[in-house]
Amino acid sequence: MKKILIISGGISKERAISLDTGKQVAKELKKNNYFVKIAEPNFELFDVIKKFKPNKIFNALHGQFGEDGYIQTILESFKIPYTHSGVISSSIAMDKVLSKKIFIKNKILTPKFLTFSFSKNEKNIVRTIEKKLKFPVVIKPINEGSSVNVFICTKTDIKKKLKYLEDYKKIIIEEFIPGREIQAAMIGSKKLGAIELKPKRKFYDYQAKYNPKAKTEHIIPVDLSKKKYEQIMRISSKAHSLIGCRGVTRSDFKYYRGKFYLLEINTQPGMTKLSLVPEIAAFHDISFIKLIELILKDASTNK
Ligand SMILES: Nc1ncnc2c1ncn2[C@@H]1O[C@H](COP(=O)(O)OP(=O)(O)O)[C@@H](O)[C@H]1O
Ligand SMILES: [Mg+2]
Repeated sequence: MKKILIISGGISKERAISLDTGKQVAKELKKNNYFVKIAEPNFELFDVIKKFKPNKIFNALHGQFGEDGYIQTILESFKIPYTHSGVISSSIAMDKVLSKKIFIKNKILTPKFLTFSFSKNEKNIVRTIEKKLKFPVVIKPINEGSSVNVFICTKTDIKKKLKYLEDYKKIIIEEFIPGREIQAAMIGSKKLGAIELKPKRKFYDYQAKYNPKAKTEHIIPVDLSKKKYEQIMRISSKAHSLIGCRGVTRSDFKYYRGKFYLLEINTQPGMTKLSLVPEIAAFHDISFIKLIELILKDASTNK
């Protein structure tokens, strides 16, 4: 019998989502006769792995220390195949500045941006922004997820909103792109499909993502011409392979005036009941267990 260790929880702001992802994956694996154990990424992890001796490790972590190459570095030392992207790919994808630089170099359209460090004590931030970008702008942490601490700002409220992000050393300020919100998923080198989100809220924020009461509409199949659909899938495939990702990824786009703007690529997309990748997979006749098995099949170490 196959033994799978699921690592979930962790210390990031997305802990609750990760616990849910871990629970859903565990339930599905158990139903399909896998021998499953769930562990936290803490000091006991070494002992758990030694005792349980898993065939593979399913990384169900999201956010910092789970999606950014840190836990992947530790998992490398066990020499047990683990799911999703490896060390370097995870850290690049998690860093919105680094990954945007790679997108730009490779002609993938992404919103114009600048980085802002609080330590520089920039007094004339509004002027600095106006020189490079147009208001409104979006301010966000460089290495967070789930729309945590993402704010849309106008010229008049940016100073107030920047205060919410003061705990981050550096943040990203991006031109706001109106239009549709479309996300596209890859599994290995295969294009899985795309989904459109229509939030009832001001944007696709944390509540719109995880609170069913926020009633975000999920639209699949996406209403795009064949040509445009192929284009968005081609861009996600290009981003996935440029960064050297493994297993499943989900690329987040804004679609405006016929152009796709890539916001980011996620290397540990959620697998909860409301999550998008399982929904895209299901639409393409890939059941939840099949999706998990495809992810497990792509598990590896960097060697
Ligand atoms: N430049 C932007 N223009 C318009 N909306 C944006 C922009 N950046 C972020 N958003 C909104 O915020 C959400 C979260 O931003 P994203 O860059 O995907 O970070 P996260 O890692 O938190 O998901 C997006 O899905 C989108 O709704
Ligand atoms: Mg996102």
